[in-house]
Amino acid sequence: MSFPQSFLDDLRARVGLADIVGTSVKLIKRGREYSGLCPFHSEKSPSFTVNEQKGFYHCFGCGAHGDVISFLMNNRGLTFVEAVEMLANQVGMEVPKQSREAEEREKKAKTLYEVMEAACVFYERTLRMPEGREGLDYFHRRGLDDGTIAAFRLGFAPDSRGALKAALKREDIDEGAMIEAGLLIDPEGEDRQSYDRFRGRVMFPILDRRGRVVAFGGRVMGDTKPKYLNSPDTPLFHKGSLLYGLPQAREAARQDAPIIVTEGYMDVIALHRAGYRGAVAPLGTAVTEEQIGELWKMTNEPVLCLDGDAAGKRAAVRAAERAIPILRPGKSLRFSILPEGEDPDSMVGTADGVAAFRKLLDAAVPLAELVWRLDTAGRPIDTPERRAALEADIHNRIAAIGDEAVRHQYQNMFRDRVWQLFRGEKPKAGTGNRNGGAGYGNGGARGKKFMPGGRRGKKDYFWEPAGKAVPGMSHSPTRKRRYVQDCILLATLINHPHLHDDVGERLGIYSCVDSELDNLRRGVLKLLDGDPGLDFEAVKTHLERDGLSRTVLRVVGSDIIAHAAFARPETPLERARAGWEQVFSMAVSALEDEEAQYAVRQLAADVSEEEWERFSHRREDQARRRENVFKLDD
Ligand code: UTP
Ligand code: MN
Repeated sequence: MSFPQSFLDDLRARVGLADIVGTSVKLIKRGREYSGLCPFHSEKSPSFTVNEQKGFYHCFGCGAHGDVISFLMNNRGLTFVEAVEMLANQVGMEVPKQSREAEEREKKAKTLYEVMEAACVFYERTLRMPEGREGLDYFHRRGLDDGTIAAFRLGFAPDSRGALKAALKREDIDEGAMIEAGLLIDPEGEDRQSYDRFRGRVMFPILDRRGRVVAFGGRVMGDTKPKYLNSPDTPLFHKGSLLYGLPQAREAARQDAPIIVTEGYMDVIALHRAGYRGAVAPLGTAVTEEQIGELWKMTNEPVLCLDGDAAGKRAAVRAAERAIPILRPGKSLRFSILPEGEDPDSMVGTADGVAAFRKLLDAAVPLAELVWRLDTAGRPIDTPERRAALEADIHNRIAAIGDEAVRHQYQNMFRDRVWQLFRGEKPKAGTGNRNGGAGYGNGGARGKKFMPGGRRGKKDYFWEPAGKAVPGMSHSPTRKRRYVQDCILLATLINHPHLHDDVGERLGIYSCVDSELDNLRRGVLKLLDGDPGLDFEAVKTHLERDGLSRTVLRVVGSDIIAHAAFARPETPLERARAGWEQVFSMAVSALEDEEAQYAVRQLAADVSEEEWERFSHRREDQARRRENVFKLDD
């Protein structure tokens, strides 16, 4: 369902964003903005801001960003339509009538829902009848008890060409509707009869996000092929946009259950039985962008569970390639690799298996790590040409990331890793290295042809669990230099808060190499944006209150000031300004990202209101467009 843009604009204008946000977040007014503790990640000092005028919220901590509608969607788990209806109710606006055509479609769909529900009831009932005995035995053999069978509404389709058709006809359901719902097959040719699609199979109803039956998967009880038969796409069902187990997982996600993506129906059911109620599965296809969007509505980092065989690896690669362009701050994927030949269903049958499965989940590989391995695993890097080719491949892969901030972080991180790799360094232990060990194998290129990860025995580096990699801070010369530059930039500003007028905007779109420093950058800017009149003592006090004192101390410490005397508080403002400008221009020219360079330079050259407006609008537009990708029509 879609609403006219004018209606949505009107609605946004009439509801108070701060009022809506204020019902679940304690907001304090600061200058033109409100701030509070971010509801989307846990934090002790507020980095969540609400800009009533511009109509959006933004968290400087986790990057959460959106308007009043997306706030309700993300904070209360409402669908787009539900959020719009709720807001319209509150401000007494009439939700526009849908077009006649849409209404027709909806009416028809409603009856199709009824047809599907009737079929589901028929299959469930048949499972409990003598002719369904075979199916019931099958489920019991696979370890399902009656409670589980009822909860997932499992059923049985008798081995007959007309059983379902006859049963639904008795309920006055039209044959055409059954065909449209995908329950009957309608052969070409006038004199041929339509007949039941699902015959002699145990049945798994597939529910949409609201829990309505929209399709079925049917499994043979023996070894005949195809093992599973699924409903075709119908007006109710598009297999690429739904996940098996979705309504239950949405519920579980609200209680912070991990969201786990498995391959099959039986895996979802087995995981539920083992206590993982956030388990879902795509419907016999690779995970799609739409499904990833659906997963991200429930959690930041869903875990994909894949078989450790070649097919599982291909599935991981495909999922990664789908996710890369649509990554957003905070939103990612993790990958758990099961022992070859196992699926979650076969693993979690015993208490030991459940424990082993939990371990696998804990060792899940972050997407960034998998992306890295895509280009580096088993690849020789012993000549300059090969190294250059590797760099180019990595560069291209990262270039596909649509979100500026995420792309930037990938660039920083991978630049460091390439540098380490070429030196044959082991990644630093400590960060994320639960398992320890060397990610890149033999720790040096000496003598033999050096390959990242090598090929140790049968084991494939690509499939190693997490922890081998994701290096911590690296100390490449450029990075070190930029780190010092960043410290100087921040120290100068903290000691000379009046510089904010001139430098604030540029620092706002700059990012520091080190994430702690970058937090401080955001903290200082937020503070001075809200209260430009603060002196340097007050700035320091506020930053300490915000939990940034450790970073502040590092930044204004004597070893930094030794590099840049102009940063001292007693230096005249003009000297501090000149010094700042010089260091900033050096730091900017070290920025890899051309777009960022251009943007910052543009601002430096012409700090006109207009330019700034254009730039900040572009960023807002981008953010809005990204969000719209996931506003699925319900
Ligand atoms: P699997 O073969 O891994 O199924 O296929 P499974 O769930 O482990 O099945 P069991 O344990 O043998 O019962 C994974 C998923 O791929 C789809 C189904 O959605 C299945 O759950 N699939 C598989 C099909 O659509 N058709 C097939 O013939 C096979
Ligand atoms: Mn299985």
